[in-house]
Amino acid sequence: MVKLELFEVDHWILTHTTNIKHNLAHSYCLPISINTLGLQFQDAHASSDPVSSVLSTPMDYGSSMRGSEELRAKIAHMYPDNSSGHLSPENVLTTPGASLANFLVIFALLGPGDHAIVQYPTYQQLYSLPRSVGAEVSLWKAKENNGWKLDTHELKSLIRPNTKMIVLNTPQNPTGAVIPKTTLEEIIKIAREHSISILSDEIYRPLFHSISPTDPDFPPSILSFGYENAIATSSLSKVYSLAGLRVGWIASNSSSIIDLCINARSYALISVSHIDEYVASFALGPACVDNLLERNTTLVKRNLALVESFIEEHSSICEWVKPAGAPIGFVKFTRSGEPVDDFELCRSLLDRKGLLLVPGSKCFGDGKHFRGHVRIGFGGDTAELRAGLKALGEAIKDNYSALSPLLSE
Ligand SMILES: Cc1ncc(COP(=O)(O)O)c(C=O)c1O
Repeated sequence: MVKLELFEVDHWILTHTTNIKHNLAHSYCLPISINTLGLQFQDAHASSDPVSSVLSTPMDYGSSMRGSEELRAKIAHMYPDNSSGHLSPENVLTTPGASLANFLVIFALLGPGDHAIVQYPTYQQLYSLPRSVGAEVSLWKAKENNGWKLDTHELKSLIRPNTKMIVLNTPQNPTGAVIPKTTLEEIIKIAREHSISILSDEIYRPLFHSISPTDPDFPPSILSFGYENAIATSSLSKVYSLAGLRVGWIASNSSSIIDLCINARSYALISVSHIDEYVASFALGPACVDNLLERNTTLVKRNLALVESFIEEHSSICEWVKPAGAPIGFVKFTRSGEPVDDFELCRSLLDRKGLLLVPGSKCFGDGKHFRGHVRIGFGGDTAELRAGLKALGEAIKDNYSALSPLLSE
């Protein structure tokens, strides 16, 4: 039987749903309704009702094993290609969310006897699932004291004869760090030399709030380097504000990887709901998508400034590596220089102030790493974030030592 480890971050959030007054545990941009999407963000030429034309569509499985053609064409357009302009829609598969996209890639490409190298810290699915399908996993640890940078010499040293996959996540959950373009180039060079596939979970693209597209290290998608065995996954959940729609995708330069994923897709889902795909296609329509991204980038930049000034004001007890992308950051809380018990800190904040945050060592560090760290989501409503930070500041002022025991106490 496949052994699945407890999915800590979801378990933490879904088992702490009562007494919440301020929810800063989420990792997406302020969710949007389909009505608002249709009325405020529509393509000037589109109908104002995003669901009307799908109502008369026969509810069959669809005519493609890859998903809606219209949606795949829009997704393919996001991936510029050096030679032919854009990725072909044939190289895209739709899925219910990035969770299923990652699941299918790992399920299709890894198994017992294989080895995967996974960037760390990251979203738990990306290392627990390879272990569950029987692969060995090495964690490639980013250095917090070096801006969460990854060392490619270390990557080389982790490679084994049976290494089949390198797993990346950029912008990254929980730190919001991005892998610079030069590092991506080095990773691809190493992967190419050993014919290793690269799975890059790019769910937080293209929300880059603190690195300019003119920066030489601004990271393109993993698919834009022309490496055949690269795979990108993503969805509309985070930066497109549509988590409840459950639409994501797998995109790859390799038609043989796509074929393996099509086969896995048949086992796991057959097709994605036509209604979901239709609304997703509406949201990714040219004018709609630009408006949505502009709304979210403005929101996240404004909110980031609030979190930054909170951290500056409380610099004697907390610090972070400022994220470059994504509406999340990983804040380290200390007392007299020692990391606090982040699990107890999060529990007390919920009990005393109704403030929900994510304890880093529990949800991202197997209880061993990232002690004192807390993930904060700042993609939500600005007034709610302001109220949440106020509650946090008050709790700290009331009695920080009672709120945040040190681990040895
Ligand atoms: C890095 C990463 N990948 C995938 C997912 C899953 O997203 P979804 O299935 O909603 O698209 C998440 C959700 O938090 C995530 O942070």
